[in-house]
Amino acid sequence: MKINHTDLAALLKKELQTCNKEHDLLQIKSKFIGKKGYLTNLFSSLKDIDPDKRKEYGAELNQTKNILNEIINEKVSELKTKNEIISQLDLDTPAKHHHFGAHHPISLVIKRIEKIFSSLGFETHDGPEIETERYNFEYLNIADNHPARDMHDTFYFDSNHLLRTHTSSVQIHAMEKSTAPLRVLAPGRVYRCDSDPTHSPMFHQIEGLCVDKEINFRNLKWVLNDFIHKFFDSKNIKTRFRPSYFPFTEPSAEMDIMFNGKWLEVLGCGMIHPNVLKNVNINPNHFSGFAFGLGIERFAMLAYKIPDLRVFFDNDINFLEQFENLRET
Ligand code: DAH
Repeated sequence: MKINHTDLAALLKKELQTCNKEHDLLQIKSKFIGKKGYLTNLFSSLKDIDPDKRKEYGAELNQTKNILNEIINEKVSELKTKNEIISQLDLDTPAKHHHFGAHHPISLVIKRIEKIFSSLGFETHDGPEIETERYNFEYLNIADNHPARDMHDTFYFDSNHLLRTHTSSVQIHAMEKSTAPLRVLAPGRVYRCDSDPTHSPMFHQIEGLCVDKEINFRNLKWVLNDFIHKFFDSKNIKTRFRPSYFPFTEPSAEMDIMFNGKWLEVLGCGMIHPNVLKNVNINPNHFSGFAFGLGIERFAMLAYKIPDLRVFFDNDINFLEQFENLRET
């Protein structure tokens, strides 16, 4: 193959790219500028060149030679520095302690709950934190002057936009997006104008939703009991369902668990109200469903025995680091 002198520099650079050893470098060097190298061949072809062009061509070859030498010298010094660094390495030095970050306990609890529900076919959905009245209230059967709106202590941007007060809004988005049957889990941040040792203006909830043919309250109870037993890793935890009221479920209930000898309320739930299904064009004569909503901080406090809600948001590294060894849960 005849190689043109103008291609030599690029060709040399390409070969040097993968060269890491001095021995290989010497071979490449001799291939390009050695006695039988490309450049020497080109020099020996000078005599066959038209005498008028010979001088100019010779000058070009000399220039190429300088360029090739420069490239090779650069590589020589690169390898030299590399070798020096390597020779200074002490492979017996003990490795430095690598400091891994830890997941936030709230994230750990979300992961754990997602894992439990995904084994029952629930898929995680996301929804916006800035909501309209329609998704946060109206379509959830909470009419304009419904007293339940007062309980929500809503942060409003304007008369129609607000920070969602609960993840129940994701129910509506999920049912609008996909058709029944569906099983949805929606973790996320929610906001309420409320701040004291037991309330934070931002906290986390998980919403659950199951819509299918012939879903009934027994299904709801079975799923939630199973969840509690798996979450706390104990079949002995006692649970009870107390009648309650939520505009978007009928009947509604609150679930309590027996914890340290006391009944503790842990979540709200119920059968999805037919009006809610109608709002998203699901025929309540063909489909029924259950929903539930729980506060993630409450579950994290119980699971990790944390007495004060505020520590979740203080960003105290000493507190957060304790959860490092729980990473795999
Ligand atoms: N959205 C309610 C709240 O923030 C919690 C809730 C209760 C959600 C009952 C539900 C439910 O899906 O069925 O207090």
